Amino acid sequence: MKKSFVAILALVAFLALALVGGAAWAAKTKSGEVKDEFPIDNTKVFGTLTKAPVKLTHTKHNVEYKIACDKCHHVKKDKKTNTWKDGDKVQKCAECHTSADKKPPVEGESLSLYNAFHKQCRDCHKDQKKGPTKCDECHPKAK
Ligand code: HEC
Ligand code: HEC
Ligand code: HEC
Ligand code: HEC
Repeated sequence: MKKSFVAILALVAFLALALVGGAAWAAKTKSGEVKDEFPIDNTKVFGTLTKAPVKLTHTKHNVEYKIACDKCHHVKKDKKTNTWKDGDKVQKCAECHTSADKKPPVEGESLSLYNAFHKQCRDCHKDQKKGPTKCDECHPKAK
């Protein structure tokens, strides 16, 4: 009797914490802190954003949509070979895709940050016919 009461208290406390924690929920892993969801923010590269920030449901993409970490995170040895593996540190996209260029990608040249995001995010949604492909679905209209 007493034991189950303690168990219920613990459960209530956990649920309350989970609620309060909300968007701040994050799992500590060897690869760094994996945030549940967050707005992707590269103001430093793009300068003032012209579009609303894009919210990524990070954990949901991994767990619910079953997308492995190394589908999005990579360290490229060449165009094809990704040497990133579980437990390796994760670098920000902008550390390698440094250009703020918004022109279409040029064959043979490294992808700008703008093209890296659109190619990774939008092209998967297009290929899978699931997930947003229209501008305003990712960049919600400012109020
Ligand atoms: C759908 C694509 C996607 C998947 C799947 C994904 N991530 Fe991420 N993750 C991102 C993006 C985008 C960022 C933000 C990167 C940036 O701001 O440059 C990020 C950020 C991170 C960061 C923080 C990096 C920093 O310095 O701020 C860590 C750590 C991380 N992810 C680890 C993981 C791990 C571990 C997994 C698998 C369990 C995973 N991610 C799955 C896209 C993804
Ligand atoms: C350690 C450096 C590094 C980091 C960090 C990195 N990239 Fe890349 N990425 C590369 C290199 C190098 C290539 C191959 C040359 C090119 O196309 O720019 C590449 C290629 C790509 C491609 C082309 C398709 C593919 O998978 O080969 C996409 C899309 C891409 N990166 C998106 C991203 C996104 C989004 C992030 C952050 C979640 C990211 N990259 C983080 C170095 C990096
Ligand atoms: C490898 C495939 C893949 C990649 C890469 C990917 N997504 Fe998704 N995304 C999905 C799938 C699958 C769904 C779920 C669609 C459904 O079930 O309705 C989705 C849904 C979404 C949604 C709407 C639902 C939600 O969970 O918020 C947003 C917004 C989104 N993705 C943003 C992004 C962004 C931003 C990136 C790049 C950092 C990204 N996605 C990369 C596959 C992908
Ligand atoms: C699948 C999601 C997705 C779709 C669809 C999408 N974008 Fe983006 N876009 C992103 C992400 C992620 C970034 C990086 C945001 C950041 O780092 O602040 C970005 C960055 C940008 C930027 C540079 C940052 C800024 O605000 O100035 C512009 C401009 C932009 N997108 C315009 C567009 C336009 C126009 C469309 C429709 C043709 C579009 N995007 C469709 C995900 C998306």
